[in-house]
Amino acid sequence: MEKLIIEGGRPLHGVVRISGAKNAALPLMAATILTPGRHILRNMPDLRDTRTFVRLLENLGAKSERTGDTLILDTTHLLHTEAPYELVKTMRASVLVLGPLLARFGRAKVSLPGGCAIGARPINLHIMGLERLGVTCRLEGGYVDAAIDGPMRGNVIYFDNPSVTGTENLLMAAVLAEGTTVLKNAAREPEIGNLVDMLNGMGASIEGRDTDKLTIHGCSRLKSADCSIIPDRIEAGTYLIAIAATGGSGTVTNCTPAHLPSLLEKLRGAGLMIAETDTTIHISWPETVGEKPVIGNVDIKTMPYPGYPTDLQAQFMALMALSSDTCVINETIFENRFMHVAELHRMGAKIKIDGHFAVVSGRGLHGLSGAPVMATDLRASSSLVIAGLAASGRTEISRIYHLERGYENLIEKLTGLGAKVWKEQE
Ligand code: UD1
Repeated sequence: MEKLIIEGGRPLHGVVRISGAKNAALPLMAATILTPGRHILRNMPDLRDTRTFVRLLENLGAKSERTGDTLILDTTHLLHTEAPYELVKTMRASVLVLGPLLARFGRAKVSLPGGCAIGARPINLHIMGLERLGVTCRLEGGYVDAAIDGPMRGNVIYFDNPSVTGTENLLMAAVLAEGTTVLKNAAREPEIGNLVDMLNGMGASIEGRDTDKLTIHGCSRLKSADCSIIPDRIEAGTYLIAIAATGGSGTVTNCTPAHLPSLLEKLRGAGLMIAETDTTIHISWPETVGEKPVIGNVDIKTMPYPGYPTDLQAQFMALMALSSDTCVINETIFENRFMHVAELHRMGAKIKIDGHFAVVSGRGLHGLSGAPVMATDLRASSSLVIAGLAASGRTEISRIYHLERGYENLIEKLTGLGAKVWKEQE
């Protein structure tokens, strides 16, 4: 196993280019199952999770070919309709193959993802929606075994909770259904808009992009896809917070600022200056003569998009730990999403947890010190990286495979911003 070493306390400065979004890449790859053919996916990030998804598709019989950041998936000859536990357990998003396998073959057997580090994460809404389309789902031996004779039949589906992958699964199921399907209280994350664009480009008819009501007019056939993956808003947000936390300044490029409305407001609220173009964000501290920047009081509440993203909660907590005030986080999406707190304590942070609230008593911009810490999940790990970059001295983060699930070329990108960071064997 490898660990990440950071010599902290150096302000980050410079330019960092954002990769394609992991959470858009996975559903777009799943959508290639829908119809036989060679599908072209551009701006594809090379991550542990995207590689796992390619393995999952190859396990079904697909062929893959990668040139630079373009991935070609040939799903002409799929032989199986089962996603085994060994693959699903490492990546919950594997459940995304359920909808498209049912749409193309009328059957699918997918291992239940089970619990994970950030909570129970059920898939009841995916199953409820498929049943509304006429699918029979049996839960047996840790698997959901789903089947339907003939095409699915359009229906109205209401989500109690606007589930992101649930919305994506049902979109993919409904595009080849007979008649019209309406998804109400659907999730509105930009990654869903990316999937809608891909499916419409393949010949589907979906109305209501970026709204909580998606209307899908079923069609009988689709054509191959040629589609580009949107920039990763969570990666962009992570670098912005890292630059802010180290008292630096810099520009993230190849991103979509319009996909980060809540984070940019919160950063402004903390005292940072933000300048946007259509594809770049420049972040800096106001000029202060002879004084260090002061991170002001700001609270966050995680919400479905366009609210503050739960996937940027842990990173913002590291920034709050460096503020000069008391800040509050209300995590409303997932239970157990404060795993990073115990590790931040080791670096000198003062944080109290009460249910889904965290109260962070800031220690000031230079209030953290380096320590050996352990990564527990993807976003918790990036919070430790940010804390390590801002802290004085040496931080060692073990179990960095979590980071490799979601951050492309992390070390190179941070080094490009002036960080001292490298990998070592444990
Ligand atoms: C997706 C993202 C993940 C992000 C999350 C919330 C991908 C691959 N992953 O995960 O990075 O943290 O959205 O923005 O895109 N729920 C149910 N029943 C269900 C499904 C969900 O009760 O069947 C609940 C969950 O427990 C949670 C909420 O709905 O409280 C939102 O979860 P959901 O949007 O489904 O998260 P994912 O799609 O798994």
